Amino acid sequence: MTLLDGKTLSQLIQKEIQKETERLKKDGVTVGLAVILVGDDSASHLYVKMKEKACENAGIYSVVHKMPSSISEENILETIALMNKNHNIDGILVQLPLPRHVNQTKIIEAIDPAKDVDGFHPFNVGRLVSGLDGFVPCTPLGVMRLLEYYKIDVKGLNACVVGASNIVGKPMMNLLLNSFATVDICHIHTKDLASHTKKADLLIVGVGKAGLITKEMVKDDAIVIDIGVNHVDGKLIGDVDFGNVSPKCSFITPVPGGVGPMTIAMLLSNTIKAAKSRKQ
Ligand code: GUN
Repeated sequence: MTLLDGKTLSQLIQKEIQKETERLKKDGVTVGLAVILVGDDSASHLYVKMKEKACENAGIYSVVHKMPSSISEENILETIALMNKNHNIDGILVQLPLPRHVNQTKIIEAIDPAKDVDGFHPFNVGRLVSGLDGFVPCTPLGVMRLLEYYKIDVKGLNACVVGASNIVGKPMMNLLLNSFATVDICHIHTKDLASHTKKADLLIVGVGKAGLITKEMVKDDAIVIDIGVNHVDGKLIGDVDFGNVSPKCSFITPVPGGVGPMTIAMLLSNTIKAAKSRKQ
């Protein structure tokens, strides 16, 4: 069994990005990211802090617009419109979830697709589905980079994605399909989840349910990617019962230290991509 070490790979990528921002600075270009953070969800605040820190280390200018949960949809749209026009801003990220009274679709659709470093705008979603270049959501993009780094070719593999969110599962499915895997996608209404997971050469799980995937549900020598984030007894754990599943696997991601750090590295990478394509 080999651990897929996202922490080390993300550090390598962040060093490369740092070099890139230095090169761009010599050409008079400072890469900029704007983050909009609404409300006081503690997990969202923690994620945004991590993104801010990573930007700082990589030499990317970042600005965080913190707004109270009572903010109106109009006010958020106005801030996005300003960021769309701001030449110092290459990427715009609205941290999700948003409060209930705010229409998430309307907010995402207001972001200039050329600055949509989260890859959530329907323009970029459509490009991904069509197999065209665009911005790809950071978590599934990070999974693909991790697989590539470990020279795991997904072509022809039976892949099973558990979780069908717009942020993780659906873009993951499309990336795998674009790389010619055969993809099964499971969700809350899937009957007999194990019958799908047991067939998978590559099992990717991101639903946020600790211990969902047990050893009986995993094929021998499978590659297992755990995107789950669960806080249990003060510890961060994934969706896979790591202790019992890992001995059966050829490769597996740890939690923490697997997919999580890759997500942040891909946000920086998407921001650099936005800066380069805008300044061409
Ligand atoms: N909330 C949970 N994951 C994400 C993410 O990748 N991007 C944004 N904007 N919000 C999130």
